[in-house]
Amino acid sequence: MHQSVEKILITQEEIVARAKELGKEISELYQGKKPPILVALLKGSVPFLSELIKYIELDIEFDFMDVSSYEGTKSLGDIKINKDLECSVKDETILLVEDIVDTGCTLKEVTRILRNKGAKDVKVVSLLDKPDRRIVDIRADFIGFTIPDEFVIGFGLDYNQKYRNLPYIGVLKREIYE
Ligand code: IMP
Repeated sequence: MHQSVEKILITQEEIVARAKELGKEISELYQGKKPPILVALLKGSVPFLSELIKYIELDIEFDFMDVSSYEGTKSLGDIKINKDLECSVKDETILLVEDIVDTGCTLKEVTRILRNKGAKDVKVVSLLDKPDRRIVDIRADFIGFTIPDEFVIGFGLDYNQKYRNLPYIGVLKREIYE
């Protein structure tokens, strides 16, 4: 275990097993329909996307978007697009891939942006859900794991851009960020 990790919350084996289940559920939902374009939010969702797509038995495409909240502003949901999609989402079915839904602000704004671009249907799959921190009323359609209100790292999740490569989800030691 990494020295900055307090405890492992979800092991690599558990993540892989859950990704298989989610892949099956997603395949079933879109069976016989137009396959979705997976829109993954950089950078945190990359390891989860890589795992999940192996188990989706549909002719999907995927693309990336990078968004961040404006620094120095307290207005909620005010996000900046650092990298936009390369594909058109007009009249498309979209499955947004997230690492974690925390306050829900990112999810709410990105789904709004995708609908404004003409997406027909926007569903969400998130590896993690931290419902205790939610401030906007939004929920992912597919959730890997619901976790308590702790700061987690690994499997894409970072602290100051580090620890994304850990193969598990761990709780970051408080002394690292306090
Ligand atoms: P939201 O807009 O508050 O839902 O924030 C979502 C984003 O905050 C995620 O995509 C993560 O990048 C980041 N985030 C929230 N909680 C954590 C955490 O426990 N560890 C690492 N990043 C987090």
